[in-house]
Amino acid sequence: LQLSIPPVLPVADVDNGPRPLLRVLFGTQTGNAESVAGDLAAAARGQGFAVTVAGLDEIELDEFAGLAHVLIVISTYGEGEMPDNAELFWAALSADTAPRLAGLDYGVLALGDTGYDGFCQAGKLIDTRLEQLGATRVISRVDCDVDYETAAAEWVQSAVTTLVTRAGASGVSAAPPPSIVARSGWTRKNPYRARVPVNRRLSGAGSAKEIRHYEFALADSGIGYEAGDALGVLPANDPALVAAIADHFRVSVDTAVGDESLGELLGHRYEISTPSKDLLGEVESRADNEELSHALRGGVKEVLDSWLFGKDVLDILRIGGDALSLDEFVPLLKPLQHRAYSISSSSLAHPEQIHLTVASVRYRSTGRDRGGVCSTFLADRCADARIFLQPNKSFRVPADDDTPMIMVGPGTGIAPFRAFLQEREQRGARGRNWLFFGDQHREHDYIYAAEIEAWHAGGLLDRLDLAFSRDRSEKVYVQSRMRARGRELFGWLQDGAHFYVCGDATRMARDVDHALHEIVVEHGGLGADDATEYVNALKREKRYVRDVY
Ligand code: 2AM
Repeated sequence: LQLSIPPVLPVADVDNGPRPLLRVLFGTQTGNAESVAGDLAAAARGQGFAVTVAGLDEIELDEFAGLAHVLIVISTYGEGEMPDNAELFWAALSADTAPRLAGLDYGVLALGDTGYDGFCQAGKLIDTRLEQLGATRVISRVDCDVDYETAAAEWVQSAVTTLVTRAGASGVSAAPPPSIVARSGWTRKNPYRARVPVNRRLSGAGSAKEIRHYEFALADSGIGYEAGDALGVLPANDPALVAAIADHFRVSVDTAVGDESLGELLGHRYEISTPSKDLLGEVESRADNEELSHALRGGVKEVLDSWLFGKDVLDILRIGGDALSLDEFVPLLKPLQHRAYSISSSSLAHPEQIHLTVASVRYRSTGRDRGGVCSTFLADRCADARIFLQPNKSFRVPADDDTPMIMVGPGTGIAPFRAFLQEREQRGARGRNWLFFGDQHREHDYIYAAEIEAWHAGGLLDRLDLAFSRDRSEKVYVQSRMRARGRELFGWLQDGAHFYVCGDATRMARDVDHALHEIVVEHGGLGADDATEYVNALKREKRYVRDVY
């Protein structure tokens, strides 16, 4: 995100009077909203504001109600959900007990993904609620799609300009020179092409899953990373699917479309696995297909999702027969997105590499082998890959080396915790470490077993609890292990432990959260409400953080 806002105020003596206060708040899951908030703050400082930036979980509603100027940058996560660090703020703001907010000037920038239901829902909710409570929206909300950079930069520019006018009357008198430095380095728009010298299967041949370990060579990229960060990977589509789509239109992949070849467009620019809503709508309106019409027009998301499951762009084209021409087809596609994976190495242990731990998604449906766009690209076709760093400042090893860590990371959820443990090992950190790991079968699915066992034997891991769900007749999950060790786990929390969860969001992380509440009830002797407050306090203190997907 690059900004160039000329100072609109004369650069005068900085001591010339108080600078107006601006609070920039962010709600973020993967760090994008936080990074836009940082840019926004820099731009506002350049215009003479005294700016503080904070997460939405770092402010109480009472304090919020006393502010004069607030700009909020918030992403939406999953199907219309609040990001974790905005959850408590939203609970307080949406409650009947929320205070009136007359006297507050505000603006909301919403980040989201049109590929999901509830596009920018978190931003929309907060924007509407603030207005309801009597605050003044001084700049209209903008809802950004995944390609947010340009729209976000424009919004930042006009938000700051608007606030200068509003706050100017109350005494902006000095504007230090703008301190915006173009962010250097590799971005989604300008990724680094890394060699991938290591690509090996971690899960055993007998496993139901194919989990792979990758090593990306950072060489002279200048990329520095921290344990907890994610790596953005720009995939290329399966050439067989690209060729099959060209065949459908009875043209060669070398056919020129605008300035590029069809092969380039379908290979690198557009999403051809998941059909876009535009494509579905257009084919439905032209083809006479009862199933598609029913799925699309029924208005029931689950029906559409289950009908779409396993169908790609080619399947939809085939439904339409010759209904669409190539020229009509291409504009209906959505841009191909990067995928982000939690990094599984520490730069202290591997300064010249980034490791990833990724499950390859593969299945067969209606006579064709299919797979996840990026995971099969990595597994099958990545001698090199276009990458960029996605920092995640909220998911970090505790700054204090003596603080205990509890990590719950079954399956590929182990990734950031392998990085955390490498980090602590390198730092010689003495804080206690506890890992909960699991998957289906110990024999095939205990990935990184040798490393984990060595850490356990060597004392870096004080506690190791494993949950292999299909080795015995009754299911054992990580949360059952947590419950069994509840007393001790609660003791660690009382000692100040940080509690981390990584992996499946909808089932595992939800059930782990329930287990955590129950443990606090049982071993803390608290009622349900007090236990919730205890867990909320952990969240506010950033001692309960999640990296879930
Ligand atoms: P399963 O044998 O029931 O599939 C990784 O997929 C691991 O997560 C598997 O061991 C899987 O168990 C387990 N799993 C499935 N549902 C879960 C849940 N709700 N909570 C925790 N683990 C779960």
